[in-house]
Amino acid sequence: MAEWWRDAIVYQIYPRSFADANGDGVGDLRGITARLDYLADLGVDALWLGPVFASPQVDHGYDVADYRAIDPLFGTLADMDVLIAAAHARGIRVTLDFVPNHTSDQHPWFRTAVEAGRGSPERARYHFRDGRGPGGNRPPSNWCAVFGGSSWTRVTEPDGSPGQWYYHLFAAEQPDLNWANPEVLAEFCDVLRFWLDRGVDGFRIDVADGLIKDPAFPDTPDGSPIIPKGADSPVHEVYRAFRRVLDAYPGDRIGVIETGADDEIVALFLRPGEMHLAFSFRFVHAGPDAASLREAVTRTLAANAPVGASATWVTDNHDTTRSVTRYGSLTKLVGAYIPGERRTKVVTAPDLAAGARRARAVALLLLAVPGAAFLYQGQELGLPNVDDLPESLLQDPIWERSGHTVRGRDGCRIPMPWAGDRPPFGFSASPRTWLPMPDSWAGLTVEAEAADLSSMLTLYRDALRLRREHRALGRGALRWDEAASPDVLAFDLATADETVRVVANFGTTPVTLPAGELLVASVPLEEGRLPRDAAAWVRRRS
Ligand code: GLC
Repeated sequence: MAEWWRDAIVYQIYPRSFADANGDGVGDLRGITARLDYLADLGVDALWLGPVFASPQVDHGYDVADYRAIDPLFGTLADMDVLIAAAHARGIRVTLDFVPNHTSDQHPWFRTAVEAGRGSPERARYHFRDGRGPGGNRPPSNWCAVFGGSSWTRVTEPDGSPGQWYYHLFAAEQPDLNWANPEVLAEFCDVLRFWLDRGVDGFRIDVADGLIKDPAFPDTPDGSPIIPKGADSPVHEVYRAFRRVLDAYPGDRIGVIETGADDEIVALFLRPGEMHLAFSFRFVHAGPDAASLREAVTRTLAANAPVGASATWVTDNHDTTRSVTRYGSLTKLVGAYIPGERRTKVVTAPDLAAGARRARAVALLLLAVPGAAFLYQGQELGLPNVDDLPESLLQDPIWERSGHTVRGRDGCRIPMPWAGDRPPFGFSASPRTWLPMPDSWAGLTVEAEAADLSSMLTLYRDALRLRREHRALGRGALRWDEAASPDVLAFDLATADETVRVVANFGTTPVTLPAGELLVASVPLEEGRLPRDAAAWVRRRS
């Protein structure tokens, strides 16, 4: 199948939290393999597995100590081989997380760099610099780390004296590699080949745009790093090299760019000869309201068009508050009229019922707009974020690094509820899961939702089946209905054979749907009309 990825549905597995086969309270590879039938029934084309490589787990696997080994927490290389074969047997491709920006501080390269001392070729694989001030006791620049604090950490030299500093965009345990060093590129191309040889179908590339930094590390007004962007940035040479590696293998192996950069910068990574897909995070930041969702769609499509790239839609992932909670807490209509503003932002405890209803509507947009879509495990169950974890149980390094001011991302990483009426809901044989599961999830298990025709899971299953049956969905040419009212999104998706109209109503007045066959609606119609916070697909009569 040519260019399978252009409209693929990719299911993101957060391995710690998907399914635990060995009963230690943490998900693992054999757990994933045991649940592949669920994913085949759901109807996904591919999996993306979060990092399962040997790691001290400071950032839950995004600190890799050995890129060619599976962490014992998750299993063995043999378990991975079985997983890949079992997924392929079900027609599901497997993509892995690839973390090239930084290694773990326990990676042999970093350990030998510290031991080898100043000016050594080992240190040249990372960014080591002398400090400023007397005795070099101040960091080389004012750049700040994403997880809080300085981006520089000082090492002790082999002779015991206070030493150089090394740069880390994230935690101190995640030293950044020096991608201007050809040895680094050669090694990572080899890592790609290692997994491609084992049959993986591609990679999601972590912090993909961040690999190259200004080597002078000059101070900046707000401490943010200088990362060369633009068409001529040397970072694109890296992706052209990765592409050559992927293209040397049969079967359309892919690279997916993770970056939060502007659309036009993102599109540069999708030029011919570079990578295949890049997340558009615009749905993560949008509404849900008609204006911001429409802007998300139009801006992404417009940026991708000149390079002939497909869009990659996403509402949820392991770094973001789950959409049911986001959509339940964003904005509230206020009764009073405020001049120039129809809505005011009121941050209240989330209304999860409203959030789930809006998430159903957005799901029908996500699965309709042209391009690939990534679904984060549990999104298909409508799981909310868990924001009341006791502080003593928080695991995300952000909590510590921010001096206990930012709780971090644990709330979207709670283990999957599979079955039963109490934690751990079939996730594990152990009652002690690495993050606790709420008692209130009994109605959100796969088992409960599979039996409920009105559940989020049933909506996702129906929508994914319809998407396979109607090629206009996810693939047709998109044309907006400019006559729709401002609170309504309406567009046609057309192929040579059929046209599907997508309507999403974020206003308060029910909307009349066009004539045709109603394929699916996110909630039951009311007197034949689409109520507020709802969406529908209608196959139009031609
Ligand atoms: C990416 C990952 C995130 C991780 C960070 C550092 O943003 O998605 O989970 O913490 O990179 O590797």
